Amino acid sequence: MLEHLNVVDHPLVQHKLTIMRDKNTSTNSFRRLLREISLLLAYEITREMEMTTRRIETPLSPMDAPVIAGKKLALISILRAGNGLLDGVLELVPAARVGFVGLYRDEKTLQPVQYYYKVPSELKDRLVICVDPMLATGNSSVAAIDLLKKDGANNIRFMCLLAAPEGIARMKEAHPDVPIVTAAVDERLNEHGYIVPGLGDAGDRMYGTK
Ligand code: URA
Repeated sequence: MLEHLNVVDHPLVQHKLTIMRDKNTSTNSFRRLLREISLLLAYEITREMEMTTRRIETPLSPMDAPVIAGKKLALISILRAGNGLLDGVLELVPAARVGFVGLYRDEKTLQPVQYYYKVPSELKDRLVICVDPMLATGNSSVAAIDLLKKDGANNIRFMCLLAAPEGIARMKEAHPDVPIVTAAVDERLNEHGYIVPGLGDAGDRMYGTK
């Protein structure tokens, strides 16, 4: 059963995360590692998907074999850094439906400003996994999940790479029903809203921008 906060402390995840944090790691390696970690986080976050059975025939006998129940899950990427996690999850769940929420952070107020929103239909019947590598202030995640709930989503999980205590508290207050799956919880936010020690700006590091 997922708790509100779930830290995936698997050695492979932790080792890859350390390489990603290193400021000398190249854009190319950063992107590859993010995709690899996202597969491992996706494995954890989908652990409790509802199952049913389907009648099949093996070469030896008929059997009622387990399959995932219900509608295809919906992956929602919070642009732009969310796309780095999205690619890996899609490899694991290629039939998933995909949506995008475009929010940028006003550098002065740190509040999210929406510029794009396009999500799959019938969110109310789907497991919805919202992805963003950095849960910092929590403002963007809370705003994105507000929008998804307004569209009917009622079974949502949030996947990130790093979380700050401030963001976790904000999510718990606003969306206590949304479990968070992360690779690590860092110390704090700095005065610019960056996670410390963190890994810097995830979008810049993944795309080689500044
Ligand atoms: N977004 C990032 O990319 N990095 C942080 O540390 C916080 C928010």
